[in-house]
Amino acid sequence: MIKKCLFPAAGYGTRFLPATKAMPKEMLPILTKPLIQYGVEEALSAGIDTMAIVTGRGKRAIEDHFDISYELEHQIKDTSKEPYLNEIRDLIDKCTFSYTRQIEMKGLGHAILSGETLIGNNPFAVILADDLCDNIDGESVLSQMIKVYQKYQCSIVAIEEIDKSNSDKYGIIVGNEIEDGLYIIKDMIEKPKPKDAPSNLAIIGRYILTPDIFGIIKQTKAGRGGEIQITDALLTQAKKGIVLAYKFKGKRFDCGSVDGFVKATNYFYKRER
Ligand code: G1P
Repeated sequence: MIKKCLFPAAGYGTRFLPATKAMPKEMLPILTKPLIQYGVEEALSAGIDTMAIVTGRGKRAIEDHFDISYELEHQIKDTSKEPYLNEIRDLIDKCTFSYTRQIEMKGLGHAILSGETLIGNNPFAVILADDLCDNIDGESVLSQMIKVYQKYQCSIVAIEEIDKSNSDKYGIIVGNEIEDGLYIIKDMIEKPKPKDAPSNLAIIGRYILTPDIFGIIKQTKAGRGGEIQITDALLTQAKKGIVLAYKFKGKRFDCGSVDGFVKATNYFYKRER
């Protein structure tokens, strides 16, 4: 059903400079694993084995990470360090990875459109790797969303309640609740000022999108920040048909900010030790 997951990964990661000067922000590690690997693991846990990664200049490390390093394999073979490679070997074994480059940085909508060539005419998932999610009841956010998709067969965004003072960091939705925590979107706005925010329901970096979104993005004009916003394209789709917002169960860290990154590090450290 949903076989592919798109990872927009072309951004500069300016909030982490100088760390991200020569290293992709998606490769920043929480403990010993890069952020994007958590994302790929989440996709795989939801039954998706085809990863479509939209990269940009300076992102080669992502491709190398999801590939065999023969020199390292040779050095580490039959030593006590070999188990450190087990998780990534397993992922490389089970998944396929394809890449395309976003040539110009024109926003998240544009990044998703750049992935059209890898996705084709099928519904697909999107993970923004800097939103790191941990499942509490054993079911990842994407798995939960795929269940919703199986029932409704339309685009879905994951949402969580935020403090309204942070509304200018997120897409904000307004909807009619049709099931516990599931809303039909009536309106959505990208990064409104707190006084203009129509609700406290914020979009987080997990989406399921039907492929007609590509045609809609092509027609979508630049919005907030002069960028082509997926939020604006989804609003058009919502007006034409149905787009759902799903309040996920679990924990999410904004690893695109230093503060969230430190919180995630402490949380995973406590959990693993
Ligand atoms: C993007 C989206 C925004 C969403 C957010 C979730 O913004 O444009 O609607 O709420 O991801 O992390 P970004 O964080 O890339 O600026």
